Formats: sequence, C-alpha cells, structure tokens
Amino acid sequence: MNTNSVSVSDPRCEKCPFRNQKRVPSSGDIRKAKYILVGEAPGRNEVVKMEPFVGETGTLLQAFFDRVDLDLHGEDFYLMNALSCQVRRKPSIPQAVACCRQRVINEILEADPRQTTLVVMGKVARDTLFPKETGGILGSRGWRKLGKFNVYVMAHPSYYLYNPDEAPMLAKDVSRIKRGRLPQIGPFELTTDVPLGPSEFITVKLPPYAYDRDSTYRATILDTHEKLKWFIRELNEVPLSSRDLISFDLETDQVDF
Ligand code: URA
Repeated sequence: MNTNSVSVSDPRCEKCPFRNQKRVPSSGDIRKAKYILVGEAPGRNEVVKMEPFVGETGTLLQAFFDRVDLDLHGEDFYLMNALSCQVRRKPSIPQAVACCRQRVINEILEADPRQTTLVVMGKVARDTLFPKETGGILGSRGWRKLGKFNVYVMAHPSYYLYNPDEAPMLAKDVSRIKRGRLPQIGPFELTTDVPLGPSEFITVKLPPYAYDRDSTYRATILDTHEKLKWFIRELNEVPLSSRDLISFDLETDQVDF
C-alpha cells in the first residue's frame, strides 16, 4: 500500500523548483513496517521504475542489510524520500525541502511509533525532519527521539559509493538499526554552556562507539560544543546492562566557573 499523500495538483508543490518532474511514490505498508527509511530523492532508476531505492544506492544498501537478514523491499520496510521528485539543481534543494516537508511528516504520522523505527539517511532528510539542526550529517549520527519515534540518523548510503573505505560505518549503522535502540543509562544532558575554547582542554578516552567491544580505544579531544554534544550522545548509547567502565578526565585548569 502506498500512503504518499501528494496528488498531482497538490498546492504544496506549486513553489517547488522540481514540480514538473515525475513524483515517485513511497513503497511499502507504513502501518506494518518496522523500519521507515527516509532517503533524499529518487534518482534516474527510481523515476523509471517509480519506486524508491531500486538503483545503485538501493543495491548497496541491500548488500549491507543482507548481513543482518533484512530485505529492504520486504514487508518490514517502508521506503520514502525527503523529496518526491528527482533533484535537478542542487542549490534548489532547500526550497524543495520546504515544499515537501509536510508531505513527509504526514506520511510518517501514519505509522505506529511503538513498532516502527525511523531511519533518517543523509542531510536532506535530516534537514527535513530536524530543520534547526546545522553542521555535517556525521555530527548528527546516532539515536534520538522525534515525538514518540525512535530515530536513527546516518549518512546517506550514496556517500559510501564514493567513499568505500568508510563502509564499516554503514555496517555499524545497519547493525544498530537491526538491534534497535538500547535501554539507556542516561539521558545525560549538557545543561550549561561549558566555555570550550580555542585551547584543547578536554581530552576523553573512549572507543568510537562505546558498546562495540572490538573497537580500538582512542583519545578524542572535545574542544567544540559539536564534539561535546556528540560525546553526550555516545554516552547515551551505553546499554543499561553494560559492565563497561567509562572514564574520562576533565581538565578544568583553564575553565572559569
Ligand atoms: N534512491 C532513492 O530513492 N533515494 C535516495 O535517496 C537515493 C536513491
């Protein structure tokens, strides 16, 4: 069943720079789906077949979902795009996002947040659902809430077509999505604006992902609020049952409290 609510004469499309393109509907039954994947926009293959993720990016994504026994085009998935139409000019994307946002929200609201994980793939999808968020997509990566939905934000899979060396990150995303959101020991929150300076005065030793036992420990300097927020998000990923010890050393000698 397709619950894409855009009709040919939708007034929301009137100001859209891509309004003359063919609209590719979402695929799957959103009321039964365990995962809603929100991509960027249909590509050439999707426009020909009128279905999301049937081109090269979809093939790559399926190869990773194969590892966790999930079928992208099976009944567990609802596939949709932040933009219903093919992107013709990149600078026009923000305007198209503004026109398509309500359509995306309306579709998602058809789902049951108790049984559905929302997966936001790439910056265009993130800008659609989290319009106040700025910065690169990797700074947004990880779990969060949107209303009652558990949401996982990740880089767009096409990123890995051009950066195959980074593919372990996609494998990690896919296994986190399959596992679902873990119980939290947090939530930890940043409650004050710590005056992080130009000087690198916060050093943290942590694995890139706190619950992956095989990851290599490394030192990360948290010298910007973006990085500190990322660290807090990672802390919130540690499962309740974890017996891992998290330790960090906060250097305060240059902090004026
Ligand atoms: N195909 C889609 O349908 N969406 C994307 O974001 C990429 C490829």
